[in-house]
This record gives sequence, C-alpha cells and structure tokens, in this order.
Amino acid sequence: MTGQPSWVPPGIDTQRANVARVYDYLLGGSHNFLADQDVGRMIAALEPNARAIGRANRAFLGRAVRVLADAGIRQFLDIGSGIPTEGSVHEVAQQAAPDARVAYVDVDPVAIAHSRAILEGNQNAMVIDADLREPEKILAHDGTQHMIDFSQPAGLLLVAVLHFIADAEDPWRIVATLRDRLAPGSYLVVCHGTDEGKPTVAHAAEKVYDRGVSAGLHMRSRAEILRFFDGFELVDPGVVPIPLWRPDSPADVPEPGKFWGGLVGVAQKP
Ligand SMILES: C[S@@+](CC[C@H](N)C(=O)[O-])C[C@H]1O[C@@H](n2cnc3c(N)ncnc32)[C@H](O)[C@@H]1O
Repeated sequence: MTGQPSWVPPGIDTQRANVARVYDYLLGGSHNFLADQDVGRMIAALEPNARAIGRANRAFLGRAVRVLADAGIRQFLDIGSGIPTEGSVHEVAQQAAPDARVAYVDVDPVAIAHSRAILEGNQNAMVIDADLREPEKILAHDGTQHMIDFSQPAGLLLVAVLHFIADAEDPWRIVATLRDRLAPGSYLVVCHGTDEGKPTVAHAAEKVYDRGVSAGLHMRSRAEILRFFDGFELVDPGVVPIPLWRPDSPADVPEPGKFWGGLVGVAQKP
C-alpha cells in the first residue's frame, strides 16, 4: 500500500501540482496534495481575492447552466469539467430539467475517477477521458455520441479551461471546430482568465503555473477572449467580469475596484 487516500487513482504524480487539484484546493475541496496546496497558497498570496474568484467562477457556471436549461437546453458538453464539487453541472441542469443530459470531459485522472464514482447509476451523465486540444476526438467519442444529439441545440461549457491552452495550440480553432458541430440554437459558455485590470498579478500567476503546474496558464485580453465567440451572438450582458454576469441578487454585485481575474460570456449560435 502507498498510504495514499483510497480515491487516488494508481500511477498519478502527486508530487507535481495539477491545475484541477490547485483549483479544488482554492475552492476548499479535499482532492489535492501538498504540491497543489503550495501552488494554491502562492496564488492566494499574489491575489487575496483568489479563493473568491474560484467561488465566483463556480457560481457563474451554475447561473449559466440554469439560464440555458430555462431556455430549453437539455444537453450539455462540459469540457474541462474538473473535480466534482457542490453545484455540479448535472445537479443544476437536472434540477431545472430532470431529463437533461451531461457529458463531462477532462484530462485529469483524479477528476475522471471522482466524476465516475459520483455519476455511477446516473443514466443521464457520464465522464469522458479526453483532451480539449483534440476536439475531433471528443466529438467522435462514443460517450459524446451517446449523450449528445448534435442535431439538437446543446450547451458547450468551456469554463476556466481555455486559458490552459497556449496560443501555439490555437484555442480559437479548437472552439471553432466544436462550434461547427453544434446545431443552431446551441450556446457557448466561457470563463477565461484575463490580464485586464491587474496585469502584474496576472503575469505573476502565469509564472507560478509555468514553473510548477501540469499546464501553463495563458491570461488573455478582452479582445482575445471575444474572438472565442466568433460565429455566436452574445447574450446580455455580453462579456463581463465573473460576478457581473446576471447576478442572482443585487447583494451579489461586488464592490467596484476588485480584481476578478476572469471574463465570462454566454452566446448563442444563430
Ligand atoms: C480550473 S478547472 C475548471 C473546472 C470547471 N470547469 C469549473 O469551472 O468549475 C480546469 C479544468 O480543466 C481541465 N483541463 C485542463 N486542460 C485540459 C485539456 N487540455 N483538456 C481537458 N481538460 C483540461 C483540468 O484538468 C481541470 O479539471
């Protein structure tokens, strides 16, 4: 026995920080190791709002899924879905529409193992082990084909994942490949790390990821983030800082001047 907790899949490198597990740590989860916690603490030291940014991102994801379910979307392709935590996409979607189907996609073995465990017995949700950098493989995967009917509108969720794809890997082409497969009426939901507002902190965070984490972090400008929505029509209020996208109540609108680290938007394919 290795002394590892029972949820650790065999063969994973717990000495190297991993983007899924650093995020889990920042959210207060328990599926992370010392290396992930060290990086999480470095990020929190750089940006005191880091934990709040993680929680704001989760809350945005929930609001966006609810809006899509209310608009009649019954199938969701969630790529870079992460380690399941409170307010998972299938919980939010199936609360609004019990027949909603969700295909989760991730590359992290802990995210996949944990998703598999909690989705056991759920006929309408599954997790697929695949890489966003190979969108054609995701689209052709048996699991995707089983969950998503591409002749009907779907919700494509790329939430806090595109910033782990370098420019050289052309994330815009990746999104366009996925977009071209979606039926008209489908939606794209994006949260993306930005250097808008606090470039020094954003670039220091990139350096922390470059040095010790499983994937580099690529903070982008508003103009670069807007390009992900090419071929879609943004819904109100457009691309905004994370907590400003359709807040549930005026009390959820943060005081001005805080750094939110990411821009979010939801758009529909005409
Ligand atoms: C910050 S978490 C976001 C999780 C969830 N989408 C959310 O917003 O709460 C980023 C996730 O993207 C996954 N990821 C990173 N690069 C990926 C890739 N190339 N393909 C698929 N998943 C990836 C990580 O493993 C991690 O689970």
